[in-house]
Amino acid sequence: MEGISKSFPGVQALRDVQFEVQGGEVHALVGENGAGKSTLMRILGGVHQRDAGEIHLRGQPVEIPSPVYARMLGISIIHQELNQVPALPVAENIFLGREPRRAGGFVDWKTMYARANTLLQDLGLPIDPRRRLGTLTVAEQQLVEIAKALSVEADLVIMDEPTAALTVEETERLFRFIRDLRPRGVGIVYITHRLEEIFTIADRVTVLRDGQYVGTYAIGELTMDGLIRLMVGRQLTEKFPKEPVAAGAPVLEVRGLTSRGRFTDVSFTVHRGEILGIAGLIGSGKAAVAHAIFGAIPVDSGEILVDGHPVTIRSPSEAIAHGIGLVTEDRKRLGLVLGMSVTANITLPVLPELETAGFVRRREEAARVTQAIRDLDMAVASPEQPARNLSGGTQQKVVVAKWLQTRARVLLLVEPTRGIDVGAKVEMYRLMVDLARRGVGIVMISSELPEILGMSDRILVMHEGRITGEFPRETATQEAILASASGRIHRA
Ligand SMILES: Nc1ncnc2c1ncn2[C@@H]1O[C@H](COP(=O)(O)OP(=O)(O)OP(=O)(O)O)[C@@H](O)[C@H]1O
Ligand SMILES: [Mg+2]
Repeated sequence: MEGISKSFPGVQALRDVQFEVQGGEVHALVGENGAGKSTLMRILGGVHQRDAGEIHLRGQPVEIPSPVYARMLGISIIHQELNQVPALPVAENIFLGREPRRAGGFVDWKTMYARANTLLQDLGLPIDPRRRLGTLTVAEQQLVEIAKALSVEADLVIMDEPTAALTVEETERLFRFIRDLRPRGVGIVYITHRLEEIFTIADRVTVLRDGQYVGTYAIGELTMDGLIRLMVGRQLTEKFPKEPVAAGAPVLEVRGLTSRGRFTDVSFTVHRGEILGIAGLIGSGKAAVAHAIFGAIPVDSGEILVDGHPVTIRSPSEAIAHGIGLVTEDRKRLGLVLGMSVTANITLPVLPELETAGFVRRREEAARVTQAIRDLDMAVASPEQPARNLSGGTQQKVVVAKWLQTRARVLLLVEPTRGIDVGAKVEMYRLMVDLARRGVGIVMISSELPEILGMSDRILVMHEGRITGEFPRETATQEAILASASGRIHRA
């Protein structure tokens, strides 16, 4: 790709960008949220049309007018935002639009299910192809999407943040698969915000910044700090800006909470000003605990106390009324109204506060939103831009900004930095520290051990729906947490 430019109303997403992938190489594409990575790859995938520039495939100039055409050219793309059909079985999702057929044109179901089965087994995925996709976890759905892309035997496979929802183990499985593709001459474009992955899997790296090309480097000539500097254009010093806090009174207490099939007998206390980390593998039930406290999934027994008083929470609106906020990993489903503007999304939970006699005080609303955009350094063209058009990481920031408006006493953060770039991560951590200083109790549920270790005052570990470990900040180590996460009991 040469001299590629692309504008959307109000944003120049790409300006004179070049990019080259060779057969048999893993080429990482990196940059901050909104840098233009997905846009560049959507042009290659036939989703967007460029305004200027040229694309050459195997040395020949090409036009890529549609996604179907891209697939015919041997380009397969795993989009950052999954587009799957939850009501259909896994196998049908994999072969959607290109089902194997018998003479006469009828779908050959038997072959389709057999091929889906082989494919899933090759990937080492213990998933039944007959299961409805919607019953799988986000991570499993992501793996199905990867299986789908690999099934078309493409020459060029583009992975836009494939590991955002994967565990360490699943990521390693994916890497083994990528390593198998390399000798077959397949070119792989790999987009991620988990920069350490790049040093494991990539041969070369191209860096974009603000829609512009910064450079292309062999992995051997880069260090982590050097790469970050290229991405953000400055040196990032502190990674985890955690400050010591004197924890105050208990703000949230959970006693013997059980949600059948999800988690059992979970008890803990969060104090004002405290950051409580909850670690555990995907499937350990840690995210479900947050959703249950928030009233989004049913609880079978147990008690929840806010500021020392027992409360009943049967729905998210009751949780919000008790001063509890939730930032989730699944922002599309639970966090954002995609068709609404940035402004409307941010002020949604506080509209009653902003109203006088049924009218929204627009100036105050605008001031709050401008402040939030500045505080979180959001890449938005205008506060009126629909959330749908934002880059993945910026959408996450909108969800956080929304809860910051509510002056919640307790904030439940589930995978709060997933898909967020290095610079924005530090911003997010600073915000957490700032909130803690103001007395908010924070529960951070995360699969990223470095942030659990770097940001928590206390760490709980879950395994198969139960709390198996508790560690104060001072004595927590990665090894000890991993041991607890695989079932070893540890009490502080
Ligand atoms: N369909 C669209 N309409 C309007 N603006 C868009 C659209 N798609 C992307 N943009 C804008 O183009 C810019 C680049 O977005 P892009 O999604 O390519 O970023 P990215 O590098 O993939 O970021 P992230 O790491 O957050 O996924 C952003 O400012 C984004 O808001
Ligand atoms: Mg993107």
